[in-house]
Formats: sequence, C-alpha cells, structure tokens
Amino acid sequence: MKEGPIVETPLRVAVLLGSIRDGRFGPTVASWIRGHLDARQDMTADVIDLVETPLPTVFPVLGQPPVSEEAVAQLAAVSPRLAAADAFVIVTPEYNRSFPASLKNAIDWHSREWHAKPVGFVGYGGFSAGLRAVEQLRLVFAELHAVTVRDAVGLQAPWAQIGPDGTAPNPGGDAAAKAMLDQLAWWGHALRSARAARPYGA
Ligand SMILES: Cc1cc2nc3c(=O)[nH]c(=O)nc-3n(C[C@H](O)[C@H](O)[C@H](O)COP(=O)(O)O)c2cc1C
Repeated sequence: MKEGPIVETPLRVAVLLGSIRDGRFGPTVASWIRGHLDARQDMTADVIDLVETPLPTVFPVLGQPPVSEEAVAQLAAVSPRLAAADAFVIVTPEYNRSFPASLKNAIDWHSREWHAKPVGFVGYGGFSAGLRAVEQLRLVFAELHAVTVRDAVGLQAPWAQIGPDGTAPNPGGDAAAKAMLDQLAWWGHALRSARAARPYGA
C-alpha cells in the first residue's frame, strides 16, 4: 500500500547508482531506497545503474557532440532519462573520502539535465557512512544549477544493516530516508512548477 499525500502527477525521480565495482554493494542500497520511493504516492522511480548503462569515459572537444556511434548510443540510454526526471537521488559509496569516478563521469556528461532540479543523497561506506562523498557532491551540483536537499542518508556499514530482501533492520535508516525524500518532494514540486512558469535561463 502506497503512503503519502495524493498528487495528480507524481514526481519522476531518477535514482543514479554511482558504483560500478565488481562485487559492489550498491545495488542493495539502490533497491532499499527504491522501496521507499515505491511506497510513496507522490513519486515514481527510475533506477539508472551505470553497470547496465555504461557511459563513455573519453570526452569530445568542448561544445561538440561525441563522434563515435558507441558513445552516442551509450548516452542515448541515459541522458533522456535524466532529462525527464523532476528530481534525483544519488546513491554513492565513499571511495578514499570522496565519490567514485564512475559517478563523476556520469555527472560530467550532462549539464541542462541537472538544472533547476533537486538532488538528494544516499551515501554509504565504512566509518564515515559515505557522508564525506555526499558533502563533496554538493559542491559539484552547485556548479550544475541543482539544489541539494539538506538531509542526506548516511549508511554506516550497510552490509550489516540491509538484508538480501532489501529491508533495513535499523529504523534510523528508514527515518533518514523519509526525511530526505520529504524534502526532495517539496523542492521537486516547487521547482517543477517554477520551471513550467518560467524556463530556467542559465
Ligand atoms: C577504492 C575504495 C576506497 C574506499 N575508501 C573508503 C573511505 O575513504 N571511507 C570509507 O568509509 N569507506 C571506504 N571504502 C569502503 C566502501 O565505502 C565500501 O566498501 C562500499 O561498500 C563501496 O561501495 P560498493 O560496494 O558499491 O563499491 C572504500 C572502498 C573502496 C573500494
């Protein structure tokens, strides 16, 4: 049974899974936050997994489109989904006190797709619960005219918190997810209305 306020058009939330490591834990975290999204009436989720839809790592000349057919096809599998989103949830592990290169690559391939939209974070990792990665991502998204929501989810050692069925025995994680998604919903609706009333001009 879905929870939350009923709205006519749910916000389209793209969940970007940033980890591509062999043996990664990321899909379990993405599946957990997707469960929270699926339980809400005010949001729909589109999970973008950079293993399923990899992006090129060589950039074209500045201001020009990519030339290789493979690069064009890879971008076509991701970019329209980001463009269609009203809001984003970034699922990021912490690698060496920051976020993974695969995630930065996906962010850097895009520009207007991020503009005037809200971004929420689910970080995970060891001691720091992924929050150092999250704080660095806020700087990146500031450049991209995005609004990062105040409350982030930080999961410390999630492999000890989230079971294979995607349920988290730690209720603190569920409460943090609700707080983050509630803020994302407010900003998502506000910015969707604002973009419709006046196209963002940056
Ligand atoms: C290259 C690398 C660097 C890491 N650096 C950190 C770190 O600085 N802080 C931390 O808390 N955990 C760190 N970890 C632990 C990861 O956050 C943890 O293994 C997490 O599950 C990685 O996400 P993934 O399994 O989806 O790849 C690191 C892991 C890797 C592979």
